[in-house]
Amino acid sequence: MTERCDLLITNVHAATMDPSLPGAYGAVEDAAVAVTGNKIVWIGPRRELPETAADLVIDGEGQWLTPGLIDCHTHLVYGGHRASEFARRLGGESYEDVARAGGGILSTVRATRAASAEELYHAAEPRLKALMSEGVTTLEIKSGYGLDLDNELKQLRVARRLAQHYPVNILTTCLAAHALPPEYDGRADEYIDLVCNEILPAVAREQLADAVDMFCENIAFSVEQCQRVISAARKLDLPVKVHAEQLASTGATKMAASAGALSVEHIEYITDEDVAAMAESGTAAVLLPGAFYTLKETRVPPVDKLRAAGVPMAISTDLNPGSCPIASLRLMMNMGCNLFGLTPAEALAGVTRSAARALGICCSRGVLRPGLRADMALWPMETPDQLAYEVGALKPAEMFLGGQHVTAG
Ligand code: NIG
Ligand code: FE
Repeated sequence: MTERCDLLITNVHAATMDPSLPGAYGAVEDAAVAVTGNKIVWIGPRRELPETAADLVIDGEGQWLTPGLIDCHTHLVYGGHRASEFARRLGGESYEDVARAGGGILSTVRATRAASAEELYHAAEPRLKALMSEGVTTLEIKSGYGLDLDNELKQLRVARRLAQHYPVNILTTCLAAHALPPEYDGRADEYIDLVCNEILPAVAREQLADAVDMFCENIAFSVEQCQRVISAARKLDLPVKVHAEQLASTGATKMAASAGALSVEHIEYITDEDVAAMAESGTAAVLLPGAFYTLKETRVPPVDKLRAAGVPMAISTDLNPGSCPIASLRLMMNMGCNLFGLTPAEALAGVTRSAARALGICCSRGVLRPGLRADMALWPMETPDQLAYEVGALKPAEMFLGGQHVTAG
């Protein structure tokens, strides 16, 4: 009997990233992929494909098909820029010095509050297009530059609006506990009350966030304050993620893991015990080599230990105006290898399968397998190692979102 499907891609090599298949890429050479609706319905060696009729057949010309890339940690909706701080840091001031002097995140808060939703939307578009042009089909966007009810809602609505207008899947995260707004100076606990009792419930009512994040650090919020944010998120049925141990060891990772956080992010300063706690709870590590590079950090996250413990390691841009104004996930893959010691296959897993884990969407995305979404990128390359090795010129020849052809960026 002849099968039928909507889209059939043949004559491709597939880097499925399916861990149940052999090899670091779960590669299937000379493959075929059948799609019906928005899902993959068959994938395997072309010679094993049952007789199939398709509405559209694409000859992949021997190129490589990968899952669409996933940028699982961005702050891409913001006002203004911080080029002057870049110059100050080059002159010797640290990120923390600048933050403590009222610059840093708070400088972007002032610009984001002053911007209209329309202005934020237009400022975000080129960043989004830059990511999409490199094969990104899913990304996360955090708030955290509003720091009051109206401005947090404004940022999240802009993120949702981008998702309505661009062929890309966007998950949003409320990061109201990112920094202490100036009007709450000296009253951090009261600001956390506002986050827990007003901002998060309002965000949940409008279904504006898929998760809740917080910055647990000496220059931001304490472990106890973050615990309160996590409890509030739990009551609203929202999963949590934590910016943890970027600048110092604080205990944030252990606390987040024991609270069942989806991911902890940055984590340059985690300990062996933290790694064990993450392995135990299934919390993913989100590595942000662009922030490490931009801030000229010297302490690298313990990749060998995370690998040995089987903790999924995602890689992301952290795209933001302070610690990583770099809209290139492919450059982050390269930095993940060169700066943190990942293999090229781990770097690709970091922006596909493990990034899906960090966002809580691994049942639908991040791997090429029947039953999962047909979000895919086709690359003119001879080996998937090229994705972490080359930056700039290698772009996807074709991209598919839920089985539909999309024009990159
Ligand atoms: O992930 N660490 C906190 N938040 C961002 C930086 C935000 C900023 O500097 O504007 C980060 O690095
Ligand atoms: Fe961040």
